[in-house]
Amino acid sequence: MAATLRGADADGKVCIQCAGRPVFRRGATAPQVQQRSRIGYYGAVIFKDETRMSSETLHAPRERLSTKTITMHQAIVSLMEELEAADWYQQRADDCEDPALKEVLLHNMREEVEHAAMVLEWLRRNSDVFAKQLKTYLFTEGNLLEVEDDAEHGGK
Ligand SMILES: [Fe+2]
Repeated sequence: MAATLRGADADGKVCIQCAGRPVFRRGATAPQVQQRSRIGYYGAVIFKDETRMSSETLHAPRERLSTKTITMHQAIVSLMEELEAADWYQQRADDCEDPALKEVLLHNMREEVEHAAMVLEWLRRNSDVFAKQLKTYLFTEGNLLEVEDDAEHGGK
């Protein structure tokens, strides 16, 4: 028997994640969250019937979302996963007492940052909103609030 959860849809499917955290009613069974990557999961959603969405953190019915929004969602979730992975590898490396394993973990952390940068560049190329903000702030020097002030008010 699957967990009794809030958020069931018309087909009786239920999301076990809400705002990134599992939400269970009293008496619910253990979360049916599966590992989705080698280091963990983010915002995984599993339904009672054990089916999984390919993209797991939609907050509106998929049929109401545009293709562009779905694609952006895929990129944004991927970026979040890459950054989370980099953070996890860094923490694990700090905590690791085996020098050879620590080296591998740090190598993997750097790879995750590379992946994040690739996805971020995809977002820049495909979203005017991202492009505008990244152009304003990336590779600048000095106080970021002054960069904002310059961008929005010409520094006046
Ligand atoms: Fe990665």
